[in-house]
Amino acid sequence: MQPQALYDILKDRRSINLRDLRPDPIAPMCLEQMLEAANWAPSHGHTEPWRFTVFAGEARHTLGEVFAEAYRLVTPAERVDEAVMAFTRDRVLLAPVWISIGMEPDAVKKMPEWEEISAVAIAVHNMHLMAYSLGLGCKWSSGATSRHLHVAQFLGLQPPAQLLGFLYVGKPAKAWPTGQRRPMADKVQWMVDERRQLCNPEGAQSGKQANAMRGEVR
Ligand SMILES: Cc1cc2nc3c(=O)[nH]c(=O)nc-3n(C[C@H](O)[C@H](O)[C@H](O)COP(=O)(O)O)c2cc1C
Repeated sequence: MQPQALYDILKDRRSINLRDLRPDPIAPMCLEQMLEAANWAPSHGHTEPWRFTVFAGEARHTLGEVFAEAYRLVTPAERVDEAVMAFTRDRVLLAPVWISIGMEPDAVKKMPEWEEISAVAIAVHNMHLMAYSLGLGCKWSSGATSRHLHVAQFLGLQPPAQLLGFLYVGKPAKAWPTGQRRPMADKVQWMVDERRQLCNPEGAQSGKQANAMRGEVR
């Protein structure tokens, strides 16, 4: 793969709003490819702490009820609004697929929590990139109801496991949005003698291509 092709995929992946998705079902094969991509995330000590539950079709109704109950639990009794509760319940139907994002730390290796969460975030990003390459839109939803203990327990995630939210997935209904980032130059410092010697894009090879050149195809 040309480095530019990878860069374009990374740059053009977008988060798509729930209201900008079509409710049409997603082929299970696409979801399996996304999950396989997630499974190639790195993790310190090979803990592989990512745990997912896929909701599609009728199962979303149950998830909506669980979200509505989470809303009730996070809201002071006198402020519970039936309309907001109904909205919280029904919004799951706007996307055909919801994937819960769980983190289950390795009980034996006991890596720092931030490393286990980081590994899950990378897994989600792999999944998001694969969805993009399959022509699907998604977004990580991490609001209070999406991470609530009540929802976590429904998913079988008991502490120290954590629920980090949901990735909802669907076919995009609108033109693909353009992304925006502030300049990278504002976020990086270079402490090198000769910056232009660091990389030669003309001669760049992936590790696997370099193996093939040496006749070490695996
Ligand atoms: C850990 C994490 C949590 C996020 N949670 C939310 C969320 O709760 N609601 C939301 O609208 N977007 C959420 N997003 C998506 C971001 O808003 C989005 O990535 C950002 O606007 C940049 O847009 P892009 O993904 O299209 O580049 C989350 C993203 C990450 C990485």
